[in-house]
Amino acid sequence: MKTAEIKQRWLDYFEANGHVVVPSASVISSDPSILFNIAGMVQFIPYLTGREPAPFLRATSVQKCVRTADIEEVGKTTRHGTFFQMNGNFSFGDYFKREAVRYAWGLLTSPTEEGGLGFDPDLLWATVHEDDLETIDLWLEETSIPRERIQLRGNEDNFWHTGQPGPGGYCSEIYYDRGPAYGAEGGPIADEDRYIEIWNLVFMEFELSEVRSKVDFDIAGELPAKNIDTGMGLERVAFLLQDVENMYEIDEVFPVIAEASRLSGREYGADHHSDVQMRVVADHVRSALMIIGDGVRPGNEGRGYILRRLIRRAVRAMRLLGVTTEVMPSLLPVSMNAMKHSYPELETDFDRISRIAYAEEKAFLRTLESGTQLFETAYEKLEDSDKTISGDVAFALHDTHGFPIDLTLEMAAEHGVNVDEAGFRALMAEQRTRAKADAKAKKGGGHTDLSAYSALLEEGRSEFVGYDDLEADSRIRGIVVDGEAREVLTTGQTGDLVLDLTPFYAESGGQRADVGLIKGDGFTAKVLDVQNPVKGLAAHRIEVIDGEIPVGADVLAEVDHEHRFQGSQAHTATHLVHAALREILGTHAVQAGSLNQPGYMRFDYSYPEAPSAQMRAEIEDVANLAVRSNYEVGTEYMPFEDAKRSGAMALFGEKYPNIVRVVDIGGPFSRELCGGTHVGASAQVGPISVLSEASVGSGVRRIEASVGMDAFRSLAAERTIVSSLSEMLKVPGTDVTDRVSELMVRLKDAEKEISRLRSQQLLAQAGRFLETAETVGNTLFVVADLGEVSSGGDVRTIVTDLRARVSDRVAVVLGIGVSGGKPVVVIATTEAARESGAQAGKLVSAASSTLGGGGGGKPDLAQGGGSDTTQIPAAISAVKAALT
Ligand code: SER
Repeated sequence: MKTAEIKQRWLDYFEANGHVVVPSASVISSDPSILFNIAGMVQFIPYLTGREPAPFLRATSVQKCVRTADIEEVGKTTRHGTFFQMNGNFSFGDYFKREAVRYAWGLLTSPTEEGGLGFDPDLLWATVHEDDLETIDLWLEETSIPRERIQLRGNEDNFWHTGQPGPGGYCSEIYYDRGPAYGAEGGPIADEDRYIEIWNLVFMEFELSEVRSKVDFDIAGELPAKNIDTGMGLERVAFLLQDVENMYEIDEVFPVIAEASRLSGREYGADHHSDVQMRVVADHVRSALMIIGDGVRPGNEGRGYILRRLIRRAVRAMRLLGVTTEVMPSLLPVSMNAMKHSYPELETDFDRISRIAYAEEKAFLRTLESGTQLFETAYEKLEDSDKTISGDVAFALHDTHGFPIDLTLEMAAEHGVNVDEAGFRALMAEQRTRAKADAKAKKGGGHTDLSAYSALLEEGRSEFVGYDDLEADSRIRGIVVDGEAREVLTTGQTGDLVLDLTPFYAESGGQRADVGLIKGDGFTAKVLDVQNPVKGLAAHRIEVIDGEIPVGADVLAEVDHEHRFQGSQAHTATHLVHAALREILGTHAVQAGSLNQPGYMRFDYSYPEAPSAQMRAEIEDVANLAVRSNYEVGTEYMPFEDAKRSGAMALFGEKYPNIVRVVDIGGPFSRELCGGTHVGASAQVGPISVLSEASVGSGVRRIEASVGMDAFRSLAAERTIVSSLSEMLKVPGTDVTDRVSELMVRLKDAEKEISRLRSQQLLAQAGRFLETAETVGNTLFVVADLGEVSSGGDVRTIVTDLRARVSDRVAVVLGIGVSGGKPVVVIATTEAARESGAQAGKLVSAASSTLGGGGGGKPDLAQGGGSDTTQIPAAISAVKAALT
């Protein structure tokens, strides 16, 4: 049975049993501390904890997951994959243990011709937590499993949590016996290779406050409801049903192994070492495909680093198989073809995905070269007695060149030397600690207590009526200050007001919140910001201008019309610029973020290079033409799938509700999924004036524009500048640039001429300093006290000229001047003076320290300076003293 079919049977079975089919969330977790979704339940955590009301009582999904903690195990066992799919069924306060057991058994053991998976019931085993004995009875009552095939285990195996504070509970697992050829008798507790875990039923009933490790955690209490979270490893079930040996040989993965075998000329199944490498390749190529598909780009930290590591390990594994040319262009399309049945977007987006993957491989092949050089240099420097490459070198190879340690180890072995692995690991540990501290600092205080808002949400969502109305009668449902519920706010205080319904747009989708007023009997408050601290609930951050605001008061909520209109102009402008970008640069210019506020829009998009000046001009042109075309801006609600089919742009990997809002500007010109506010027709946007277009990080670019009256005003301000310049320069505006560059050339020439004349003048007078020179000991001491000079260069010119005039004598020339209010001193010595011990550098130090500064140089010429011009005579004396 194909993997895609197992997935479909799963969804059909649970749908028929009253579950809502929910699409997979992105592999990217919305919780920054988790990086990737590691289980099907992650997208449902707010419903499991009761922080948000669940929109359905039962749900089912097939979730894309990435776990890389066991990356070293990949290929060596039957069941470790960095990317895998987890089939799940969930109950949010609806059914509990009994039904979970019944459903699981039903699907596993019903015959295939009846839509089931057709597992032999006699080969299934179950495990139960040792403190959850009631579940044993449920197994005995609901299924045909005998007591001997139910085993008890502790927290290590049969308590499940995410590794973070949050929901958790006892679990009961189902195993499949592969038979005596695979290991010892005795059930899962005896051998987990023979008895393969296929399904985990978690009975989510506890809230965990602290999680120190898998088995060490604190239970804070019970969850508001008893929930079910189950997870069946799709790849595991697929390999059992496809009668292959492991998850790398299933239909969605094996084609890549076959391609790796073709490229390397090695037969799969011939030797264990090569098999492991081929499985690593197949696993990692697929994971890279899926992760890039959901919007991650290779980088040096977080998700980007994991992606980079996967690609590099795959390339490296191919090298170990003897293939040193580029491999991704052969392997990635094969993986995409194997996965596209379940994820058709991989094919439509393949142009973008493959460009990212191929570029990363190319970059790695380059670093492989430079890293090899670093390694060779370190190797050559090793003393004969010391046969160890240091931890520092291994770390630098890893950190700068992306070398996995096993690559360094292997190269060392080839050269017959060791690597200080302990040193390397210590440096890695240090780096991890630093990274953790950074992450903590970044998150700082992000986890504020939202319970006061959640409590208010229990009365229902605070409805947004602001698409149609900018004013609304409403009621104050609650007041929250610093996370705590309050009864009243008075003049001058700030806090959050939650209303039953609101015309205020809360910041989201890149659009800044509305501002305005909330008024009631005897009070007025200014709305400064609006956010959704929990989904479905808008909190209006207000300042009380006047009066006293009690909970329960009736209010009139008034959005500032002008502010809203300008915000809408900016948001519509963003859609126009997005569409223009795609028209000029192609559909691989993918949105990476945006910001809209009155008068201004910013749009980030991924694109590998800087668009030419011509392209930029065209983008601005196309956007403004769309304004002029006065397209109608329409909004429509429709099922997500229909929206996608109609060509609406959605962000891959974003979690969208089943029914989405589509904003349409001029039909095919722009269609986007969007919850923001917009103007009624594109001409209302007014001018869009691009302010800048620049790179903001690897492969991501940012375009900024001013919009509407702001754009007009910024253009008008520029026009004023041009017209005053044109008046000043007495040329028409179109000639201003030429005129200014001509003036700049003339100015430069004039400056050069001035400095040439000045030096000439100084030199002409230099002779007089020789007349006042004194003899100190046997040295002729020439002092040129120059007063104001334009730069230190002038002083040097005079000093070297004077030295040339006395070059045949034992002479020291000191020049001193004041440039920019500060003393500058230059000293030159003749050859004869140096022979008798004079050193310009030392003499300058003596002068400079008297002037309150420093300086130095060579024995023949040195320069210094200071800050105190009154000390010039003292500095001259200091040099003189040093000569005697
Ligand atoms: N959350 C559980 C797991 O990942 C069951 O879905 O195993």
